[in-house]
This record gives sequence, C-alpha cells and structure tokens, in this order.
Amino acid sequence: MPTKITAAITAIGGYVPEDKLTNADLEKIVETNDEWIKSRTGISERRILKGEGKATSDLVVPAVQQLCKQRGITPEDIECLIVATVTPDMFFPSTANVACQKLGAKNAWGFDLAAACSGFLFALTTGASLIESGRYSRVVVVGADKMSSIIDYSDRTTCILFGDGAGAVLLEPNKEGFGVLDSILKTDGNGGKYLNMKAGGSLHPSTIETVTNREHYAMQEGQAVFKFAVVGMADVSYELMERNGLKAADIAWLVPHQANKRIIDATANRMGLPEGKVMMNIAKYGNTTAATIPLCLWDYQDQLKKGDNIVLSAFGGGFTWGATLVKWGH
Ligand code: UT7
Repeated sequence: MPTKITAAITAIGGYVPEDKLTNADLEKIVETNDEWIKSRTGISERRILKGEGKATSDLVVPAVQQLCKQRGITPEDIECLIVATVTPDMFFPSTANVACQKLGAKNAWGFDLAAACSGFLFALTTGASLIESGRYSRVVVVGADKMSSIIDYSDRTTCILFGDGAGAVLLEPNKEGFGVLDSILKTDGNGGKYLNMKAGGSLHPSTIETVTNREHYAMQEGQAVFKFAVVGMADVSYELMERNGLKAADIAWLVPHQANKRIIDATANRMGLPEGKVMMNIAKYGNTTAATIPLCLWDYQDQLKKGDNIVLSAFGGGFTWGATLVKWGH
C-alpha cells in the first residue's frame, strides 16, 4: 500500500456561457462555410461570454461554485486557487485574486499561470506539487479563457476556432496511489512567432498604432502550428505511456486539448487508442484554450471509473505542450 501523498481529483466543475456562435453565424461575418469549418476542425459552434463588465473571472466563479457544491465544501475551504489563462481580467491583480474575492474564498491565496493551451496541464502539475508537499489539502486548479476578447472577428483563419469557457478540478491528498501520477511538460520559445498576441505587454505597450494595426488580437499561422502540434502532442503522449509501462489496453481515456479534430485523431492513432476512448467536445465548444481539458472531464465525468488510467494531453502557444497521467480515484 503506497504511503506517498498523491493529488487526487475529487470534484469537477465547469461553465460555458449560454450564447452560441454557430458556423452559420460565422458565415454571415467572414467568408467561410459550415462544410469547411467542420471538415478542417470538427467545430460546429462555440460559446461566447456576452455582457458589459463580464470577464474571465465570471467564467471561473460558476465553475468553482459547482465544484464546491459537488464536494460539499464552501469556497472558504479552498486553500489555493490557480487559474490558467491567457485572457486574464487585467494584467494585475490576477484573475485568481479577483475570483477569490467574488467567490468569498477568504482563506485562499492564488495566482494566474500563462501557458496558453497547455495552461491547465502546467497548473495541474503545479497544484499537485502543493498537495504532494504535504502543506496543502485543498487546491483548486482552473483552466479559463474568454477567447472572444482577443479574437479578430474579421480574420477567418482564427475566429472560427475559438470559444469561451472554464473548467475546474479540486485536488486533495490521497494515500492509495490515485490522482496525478506523472507529467511530461515542455516549452520551446522558437514557436512564439507562429502563435502570439503582439501588443499590450512590456515589449509593445498599447498605443494608437498597436490598436490600428490590430496587434491586440491573437495571431496564428495555422499550418505551421498544426505541423508542430500533430507531432508534439502525439510524441509526448506516447512517451508518457512508455515511461509508465502502459499499453493502449491499459488506458481508459485520452483527454486531448480540443484545437482540431485532426490533431486529436493523430494523437489517438499514435497511442493505439480507438475513438471510443477519446474525450471530444470540440464540436460544441470549439477551442477554449486553457479550458478544453477540464471541460472534457466535466462533460465525461459520469463515465469515469475508479482506477481508470487517463492521459491528458495538450499543445499550444509558446510553444508549450505536455501530457499528464491521472489514475481516477472515485
Ligand atoms: O490551440 C492552440 C494550437 N492551435 C492549433 O493547434 C491549431 C493548428 N492549426 C489548425 O488547426 C489548422 O491549421 C487550421 C484549422 C487553423 C487551418 O486549417 P488548414 O487545413 O491548415 O488550412 P490552411 O490554413 O492550409 O488553409 C487552406 C485553405 C486556404 O485557401 P487556399 O490558399 O488553399 O486557396 C485558406 O485561405 O483554406 C482557406 N481558409 C478558409 N476557407 C474557408 C482558411 N480559413 C478558412 C475559413 N473558411 N475559415
């Protein structure tokens, strides 16, 4: 019986806004069509957070409230809140800070973590380390992005991809070997030129020119990112399997970042997994950046069984990428 402390996922919360942006809606805004979008990406619609004064923290709050309800705790029981996002409410204070205040999580400290589409995996490993250290017993890890706030709705190559949402997990100590068991996480700054938001930071502070040049929007060279993503996500997932002595038959679920169905299929193929073992909700939410993986867990939670080996896998801006092995504990 293992005595080592691991970080088990003991509750899941999720939130997507009600407003939908369908492929038919996009056909009216840019030159595109439903057939192209579905066949190239697998996306049918996305959710958009609308309303004056609404920000990423407004996605985080309902997801965390739901998680607390599921576990029968209150926000005051949370010790640390980590928010993975590239669309924070503001540069500072952090979105975690704002969300704690809105939640009434008076006993928590927290911070934001920026690793784009891999943000949730980076945050999950960080949160798990806090639990494994023995110092914390209730850490909440959230992936949340209001992508609609940085999307150029005149750029058909990006606006068809992204949506808004948030997913959250509660981590608690476990001594039976369940929870986050292993991670391989990677970064390569050479990828920065293919996927970024140029202005607004200390390199190019906001000016009239940066606004006029549309430099406050996400820019992606889709084909270049695609080539790296297909190889990167598949390789790291396979490496994680090998390192843990797992065969395809030992894995219950692949939980892939939802950027493009073709990238997901390539990863599943490399791992030898049939489609029935792959969590997929890209059709209804699109790419919600840091939120895709916890939103998949949220959608599929009823199908998870104690002891299931689950591989979470992501690739995104930075470049950042990685894979995490979780043994489901309840
Ligand atoms: O989550 C972060 C990481 N991001 C990713 O993993 C995304 C990776 N990239 C992709 O998923 C794909 O590259 C895209 C979905 C973004 C684009 O798909 P693609 O198959 O790589 O298309 P493409 O860029 O090679 O464009 C093919 C054609 C072009 O026309 P021509 O030059 O062949 O005449 C584009 O102009 O499709 C055209 N096109 C469109 N047509 C209709 C580009 N966007 C659209 C559009 N509707 N929205």
